[in-house]
Amino acid sequence: MSADTRTVEVGGAHPYTISIGAGLLKHGALLAGTIRGKHVLLVSDANVAPLYAQRVIDALHSVRADLRIDRFDLPAGESSKTLGYFAETIDALAAIGATRDASIVALGGGVVGDLAGFAAACWMRGIDCIQCPTTLLAMVDASVGGKTAIDLPQGKNLVGAFHPPRAVVADTTTLRTLPMRELRAGLAEVIKYGAIRDTAFLGWLETNIDALLGGDDTTLSDAIARSCAHKAEIVERDPFEHGERALLNFGHTFAHAIEAEQQFDGLNHGEAVAVGMVLAARLSSTLGLAQQADTQRLTGLLQHAGLPTTLPAGLDPDALLARMQLDKKAQASGLRFVLWHGAGDAEVIADVPEEAVLSVLHAARLS
Ligand code: NAD
Ligand code: GLY
Repeated sequence: MSADTRTVEVGGAHPYTISIGAGLLKHGALLAGTIRGKHVLLVSDANVAPLYAQRVIDALHSVRADLRIDRFDLPAGESSKTLGYFAETIDALAAIGATRDASIVALGGGVVGDLAGFAAACWMRGIDCIQCPTTLLAMVDASVGGKTAIDLPQGKNLVGAFHPPRAVVADTTTLRTLPMRELRAGLAEVIKYGAIRDTAFLGWLETNIDALLGGDDTTLSDAIARSCAHKAEIVERDPFEHGERALLNFGHTFAHAIEAEQQFDGLNHGEAVAVGMVLAARLSSTLGLAQQADTQRLTGLLQHAGLPTTLPAGLDPDALLARMQLDKKAQASGLRFVLWHGAGDAEVIADVPEEAVLSVLHAARLS
């Protein structure tokens, strides 16, 4: 492992190490470090597998020639996070006779990580999963914290489990092949950590956003490590989202409504989160919790990252509110939002008046 590799430890009942750096997918000892048995199912997708699967297989075999490594590739994209592909992954484990000490290696973005992680959670009531995220979003969010899930026609992530990985290995060189739009989407989640709990990081991002967009390995590793450290601190204290883990959903109530209203065929998740964070900041000002200057600062940074900050044309505020009220039914405490008291200081606020939400949505259509 090179001296430039960053590590973040995630504590709690099931501790693990997140390793971040250039070239780590060639590091057999790191990848194989937690593999106990001899069966490995490498789950990836149709875009990522041709680029990186053989690299991972060669690295694993270089230190564990005895490993039986089989592959299962999903079609790329959210539409693969289904019961059908979950069943196929389970069939692949059955076909190789995977034992309880088998491991799944999830190589890809959050779609692969969520589905493969859920298969690991279920096979024989839980086998080891090593997350090898290849999108920025998966490196800073989806691969860390143990949430795994698949989608149903009724909604996203409706079936899943908390199943922490045994290790996370993020090779920043994989980001060189990631489409720019996906890199920007990941930056929205990076900016989120600054917005909810770290003003110094927000300042650092303002200074370094061009280096991040330019794909500079060192700057990306620094941003990923700092983001993971924030997520690690939160999930260690609140692994099952009974409290502060909900702060990670800053902007997400608006984002989920936007994504659903666009039938998941408009803004991608990170883009919708960018718009959602601006709307959450505006709602905070409308309710007298924060200054408008904070909204302007956040908007400026997101725009510099090339992310959208206004509501897409054609979305109806009443329809968006109705979507958000579906969330409300799952909660006893009225419309709930993660809002902020200004940059770096977020809080979950219950019983937010509908009129305030509607007024922010109407204003966002005009801006
Ligand atoms: P994704 O997995 O669909 O990846 C985006 C696209 O990039 C895909 O087409 C993929 O094939 C491609 N790709 C991935 N890595 C690449 C690379 N290095 N080079 C070239 N192409 C590459 O999307 P995502 O944004 O990574 O993840 C979104 C998913 O993550 C959603 O399903 C969301 O629900 C989930 N998620 C989960 C958590 C969690 O805590 N479990 C958190 C956030 C998001
Ligand atoms: N992505 C939010 C969480 O992991 O809780």
